[in-house]
Amino acid sequence: MSTQTSETNIISNINEIQYKDEERRYHGNENAGYILPEDEIENDRMHMQHYCIKTFFGGNFDAPIEELLQQGITVLDSGCGPGAWTLDMAKMYPASKFHGVDISEVFPTEIKPNNVEFQVHNIAKSIPFPDNYFDYIHQRLLCMGLRKEEWSFVINNFMRALKPGGWFELTECTSPEMINQGPKMSILMEALSEVAKIKNLVPDISQHLERLMKEAGATNIIKKELSTPVNHTNKAGELLWKDFSMLYTAMRPIVSKKNPELTSEEAYRQFLNEAGEECKEYKTAFIWVRCYGQKSETIAGK
Ligand SMILES: C[S@@+](CC[C@H](N)C(=O)[O-])C[C@H]1O[C@@H](n2cnc3c(N)ncnc32)[C@H](O)[C@@H]1O
Repeated sequence: MSTQTSETNIISNINEIQYKDEERRYHGNENAGYILPEDEIENDRMHMQHYCIKTFFGGNFDAPIEELLQQGITVLDSGCGPGAWTLDMAKMYPASKFHGVDISEVFPTEIKPNNVEFQVHNIAKSIPFPDNYFDYIHQRLLCMGLRKEEWSFVINNFMRALKPGGWFELTECTSPEMINQGPKMSILMEALSEVAKIKNLVPDISQHLERLMKEAGATNIIKKELSTPVNHTNKAGELLWKDFSMLYTAMRPIVSKKNPELTSEEAYRQFLNEAGEECKEYKTAFIWVRCYGQKSETIAGK
């Protein structure tokens, strides 16, 4: 994202964007449920998180599309964020065309490969592409973005925008419960869960993906679930903790509202460090789900 575009964006939306603690910037779209910041620090976090997830799953996708991507297909990355997945894929598959859509202009607007287009759009309102347009749709980590009633709408729209025989793939993490979760992590996860409840978000959407895909008429659905270490065992585990601690730093206003003793930056930082140590001690693990499915060859423009 160019600085000029970014500044113009901030100024033109100055009344909409809410500045919260630590001078973080949050998206100002009143019609959306997303609760995380939309600034450079968050972009860095998402890029790092991308490489963690790629390592955990052993790749960027599981749907059987490798050959198609090499030949050249049309792909949507829904809720693409800064475009870490989109750009990585565009580089790996130069014959394919990638479209990234996000509610915030956090993706690069000028310096990007020729086979990538980004646009700002609220996917809870529509998917801004014609029927039967994409060969493959990817969406990752919208658990803190889409409200309960929006999930079916979005998935039905994926089915509409997919070509017959096209694939779509959803990857989500699972909260509020981790495996071997200690008391400090429980405080953090519960605070997140409480806000999610107020906003009508679905932190455990990973457990409903298969059903939602079935209800939308997808076939050949495959679910992959895995648990990954948090701050122990390997480098990816350590990076995942770094990702979490950045995420929870952004969420200090939310956590400290319920836990006033954590209001000061110093007390909160110390608490986060202790939570990280606790994850090592408890061998805490985080649960991820990836689900992919296909639009039937015989359904056109559902
Ligand atoms: C946790 S980030 C994940 C980004 C990216 N999918 C990834 O995995 O690296 C969630 C993204 O979804 C976007 N988002 C949230 N609600 C949205 C909506 N209603 N329409 C479009 N994008 C949305 C946010 O702006 C944010 O960039």
